[in-house]
Amino acid sequence: MNESLYVRPNVRIEGLLNRFVTWMHVVAPAPAAMNLANLQLAMIDSYVANPGVHAAAVANPKMRGGFFINVDTARVDEVRELGEEIRRDNAAALELAAGIKEAENLLRAQATGYDLSPLYAQLPDALRGFVELVYDINNHPQLRFLEAMLYRGPCYREDRQSIELSLDDGSEPPFVLSTPRLPRPDHLQLPIPLRHNGIDELFGTRTKPQTFEHLRSALEITSDADAALLRTLLTTEHTMAPDRDISDGGRVRYFGHACVLLQSPTVSILADPFISSNAAAGDRFTYLDLPDHIDYVLITHGHQDHIVLETLLQLRSKIGVVVVPRNGGGHRQDPSIRLLLEHFGFTVQEVDDFDELPFAGGRIVSLPFLGEHCDLDIRAKSAYWVDIAGRKVFLGADTSGLEREVYERVRQVVGPTDVAFIGMECDGAPLTWLYSGLFTQPVPRKMSLTRKLSGSNAAQALGMAQALQAEEAYIYAMGQEDWLQHVMATSYTPESYQLVQVAEFLASCKENGIAAEHLLVRKELRW
Ligand SMILES: [Fe+2]
Ligand SMILES: [Fe+2]
Repeated sequence: MNESLYVRPNVRIEGLLNRFVTWMHVVAPAPAAMNLANLQLAMIDSYVANPGVHAAAVANPKMRGGFFINVDTARVDEVRELGEEIRRDNAAALELAAGIKEAENLLRAQATGYDLSPLYAQLPDALRGFVELVYDINNHPQLRFLEAMLYRGPCYREDRQSIELSLDDGSEPPFVLSTPRLPRPDHLQLPIPLRHNGIDELFGTRTKPQTFEHLRSALEITSDADAALLRTLLTTEHTMAPDRDISDGGRVRYFGHACVLLQSPTVSILADPFISSNAAAGDRFTYLDLPDHIDYVLITHGHQDHIVLETLLQLRSKIGVVVVPRNGGGHRQDPSIRLLLEHFGFTVQEVDDFDELPFAGGRIVSLPFLGEHCDLDIRAKSAYWVDIAGRKVFLGADTSGLEREVYERVRQVVGPTDVAFIGMECDGAPLTWLYSGLFTQPVPRKMSLTRKLSGSNAAQALGMAQALQAEEAYIYAMGQEDWLQHVMATSYTPESYQLVQVAEFLASCKENGIAAEHLLVRKELRW
């Protein structure tokens, strides 16, 4: 009974809302309402009407990353019930979504540059008190959402949040944007909100053991069946890696995708945390390689592969502060990352371009992040520049090299860079793949295809590296590692444009005297 227990190395957590996996645009109230109405419920209705179509699409590799529900067709009744439950409990959000459409129709018809005040009386009830009507300086009307108010209104349903705990056996979970998590016999679903302290108690045992009864009560587990499942997630063995801290110099470790850990003997900084829970695989860094305390988590932007709740929830108990870019305020396509993470129980520091966070022996500087958001007015994005243990590291994530001048100007402010991490996902998904639910009028396919979620191609990446005067350049954030395919759903072949561009970039770096490498799975730099 009083055994000291640790969470197993391969425990996974998914944070759920309405049983769908959480990310920015399905939690922040305004985009979430639109995505619930236009995407999630639409998918559920389509599955219920014809589950076989979804099953065929899921089985077709060409449809990878498509919006098809990966649930056994024998469970169609459960999916129908989920749809009914969602409609019943989220009536306010569905009214908000309908109201946004109605209000934008009203603005399109009547807001022609003249006084907007008479239009308030015509707003749908669901929007009253939650929006301001404004023009941009070119007299284009828009709804400006009072987002903090929406979090305090009927649309933000913490009681619809839950968590799912399971053991990672190396198999790929269903695609996070499409498939709700129905109960499974070997998965433990608990009806607790994502800010719940029990999550911290559980994952805190990576370093400090607890008794079974302590954890059971922390997670408010009442049923013996759930308690038995909890026990399967725990072990008496302590397995953190002995070399997770350093005592001299500096170290950078690449954990896959855009996740990079920077360490000195006194500070640890983790960018875009997205970490494999498959500790048995042996080829990668995992949760076991993280220091016991992470001073700063840096979030570059709100895409679902950069603000990854399945990792952040595991780490919450060991994070000092999460540094996030400030949003523009009010556009539903640009929700506040700060508000979201604060509601999930994180300590958050918002930054804007060139804000500085000094720490013992160095500093973090937030930098402009260009493009990669389909030309939507989204401000919540930031690259970072970190001066740590005597080296200057640029973390670009998906920022695009569209304009070399941006990075020239960055160098003029912060000085030359030693090591640049540059994203080269240069043929990203089109506008409607990620944002279709947010529109209130149809987006022509032709238009959507011209507006992609693309980072830098070879010439742009070289321009960035040269402008920053980087000595070393590492290509990352390509979504290639196999353990993140439930989020990325990438399907590269050697002929893919992105990989051809990477090869071109590496060749041109060689010609230009920049040491460059395409990162995959794992890498360590030590000085
Ligand atoms: Fe992105
Ligand atoms: Fe990305």
